[in-house]
Amino acid sequence: MKAKLFTPMTFKGVTLKNRITMSPMCMYSANEDGKVNDWHMTHYISRAVGQVGLIMVEATTVTRQGQISPRDLGIWSDEQVPGLKKLVEGIKAHGSKTAIQLGHAGRKAVYKGEILAPSALPFDDQGKIPLEMTDKDIENTVHAFKDGTRRAREAGFDIIEVHAAHGYLISQFLSPLANKRKDKYGGARENRFQFLKEVLEAVKTEWEGPIFVRISADEYHSEGNQAEDFIFYAKEMKKLGVDLIDCSTGGIVRTPINVYPGYQISHAEMIKRKAFIPTGAVGMITSGLQAEEILQNDRADLIFLARELLRNPYWARTAAEELGEEINGPEQYKPAW
Ligand SMILES: Cc1cc2nc3c(=O)[nH]c(=O)nc-3n(C[C@H](O)[C@H](O)[C@H](O)COP(=O)(O)O)c2cc1C
Repeated sequence: MKAKLFTPMTFKGVTLKNRITMSPMCMYSANEDGKVNDWHMTHYISRAVGQVGLIMVEATTVTRQGQISPRDLGIWSDEQVPGLKKLVEGIKAHGSKTAIQLGHAGRKAVYKGEILAPSALPFDDQGKIPLEMTDKDIENTVHAFKDGTRRAREAGFDIIEVHAAHGYLISQFLSPLANKRKDKYGGARENRFQFLKEVLEAVKTEWEGPIFVRISADEYHSEGNQAEDFIFYAKEMKKLGVDLIDCSTGGIVRTPINVYPGYQISHAEMIKRKAFIPTGAVGMITSGLQAEEILQNDRADLIFLARELLRNPYWARTAAEELGEEINGPEQYKPAW
């Protein structure tokens, strides 16, 4: 029987040749202009040569004010589109599909001027105090996600991932630990979901393709969102046409995380089972056997790999060998592949 890791999966007409996804990873390698450069071309295209089914480009910021680092890729200007387009073409030339993660850091932004968040609470003792977003700030930021989506479409991406994890802006709205608002964006979880809902609705005005959302499905805090909150959000996202929930954890408050092989998989499994939506599993997944176990037991639908793909851009081949599969490599590598 064919290993499930090497079976295709289709989302809204976009077929991934296998279940291996390159998890978004900031490369902190862009210049101030936020544009794609040679590093990004080499880094992402190498993984496409390595037969990764879906290459997800790192957290790419929708406004300069929302940068996670001064060296993030950006999608706040039309001038950033040609570089992204060239990158997409380069990846697709090797048979991989392309995704881009759209993000905004909120209170974790490095911007030198004022920074924005749902409430005027810093991330930690050293953190800058953000401005509580006004209705106008919310409207402008939702609009920035819409413009970012249009630019991603113009660049030719196949899939959009909205970054609602790791304590960045959308995650801040979702979490009672960071969102103390008294208006329609705060309070009950229905209200805390409102900002993400508006972002997804704005994305959909520019985008008919698949939409993934990355969440932090565990906030590691007794007063933070709990499992039933994430199931609620996942069900709402499904109603809004989201195709997959990419289940990461943490980042909303500074707290130690117990990291072990597959440490986040139980969240992908729980959301898949309880909200009946495809999920992505991520976090210390390193072997083909481990990936195959997750897929065959229906614990998740896609396997997101981050650091293992930095160590081994040819991980797909390694995993195929381990699972007794043969996969095609680039024609040029035939003598060795
Ligand atoms: C260098 C680096 C940069 C990262 N940047 C992002 C990012 O841009 N967006 C995101 O959602 N997660 C980011 N992550 C988290 C990874 O996508 C992934 O969830 C995490 O590393 C756990 O997976 P792993 O054990 O396979 O590395 C980053 C991780 C690393 C190591």
